[in-house]
Amino acid sequence: MTSSLIASRSAPAKATELNAKASPDFAAKLAETQALLRRVAAEFKPVTQASSLGAEDVVITHLINSLQLDIPVFVLETGALHTETLALLERTQAHSRAPINVFRPVQESVIQFLRDKGQDAIFQSTALRKACCGVRKIEPLARALTGQRAWITGLRQEQSTARAEVPLQDDSEVTAKELSKFNPLAKWTWGDVWHYIAENKVDYNPLHDRFFPSIGCAPCTRAISLGEEFRAGRWWWEDDAANECGLHVKA
Ligand code: ADX
Ligand code: SF4
Repeated sequence: MTSSLIASRSAPAKATELNAKASPDFAAKLAETQALLRRVAAEFKPVTQASSLGAEDVVITHLINSLQLDIPVFVLETGALHTETLALLERTQAHSRAPINVFRPVQESVIQFLRDKGQDAIFQSTALRKACCGVRKIEPLARALTGQRAWITGLRQEQSTARAEVPLQDDSEVTAKELSKFNPLAKWTWGDVWHYIAENKVDYNPLHDRFFPSIGCAPCTRAISLGEEFRAGRWWWEDDAANECGLHVKA
């Protein structure tokens, strides 16, 4: 066996190599996604993209930039993200045509939560974990969406049973909040997402090379094993496996 063969066998596989596999109708899906983003940019002003800096979201930001759409991006920087995610945030801020707006939690609220409930509170009960999400994600999300007519997310139907019905356009909060939500990758498969990333050489979060399918806060996100559900790495210690933080749960 040659040394180059040994080297290539021992090198960890990249997420692009492992996952990129376009659906037979990928070209049509891409065209539909591009048309949707163009329509949203033209008809919904102001509109913004929510990015966790995970695979789906870097695809959407890449589409926004390549189509030169007037859609700023926001990232909820919870104060508990992985260093890999923070590094990708910096690179994205440096290279993106679309502005990248960062929303952080109110520092005093985080300090008070930690002082009152303790460093390990999130592992003690689902209620305390959701309280942490409330301070670090939900309150900053409300600020990020203030004054917006629409927001764009990377939700996909394939991600979980709870998301199986995710529509391309969700107007369920228009009456209460005058806010539409668009999920342009709703029908994309994981293979489609990685096909796009590979084809367009999109900069992605290296955590995906270590089997993190979704990107969340460091204490609450782990890699998954073969056969585990897509969202099994989120809040895995909780019994009621709702696996949601409240960003996409309707009030
Ligand atoms: S979560 O509700 O469990 O956090 P998930 O990680 O699957 O959701 O992300 C779904 C979508 O929510 C992402 O594609 C993105 O649009 C939005 N999102 C999640 N986390 C963030 C974040 N930290 N900042 C901005 N948007 C986010
Ligand atoms: Fe807190 Fe974890 Fe929610 Fe992040 S995901 S806000 S660390 S409970």
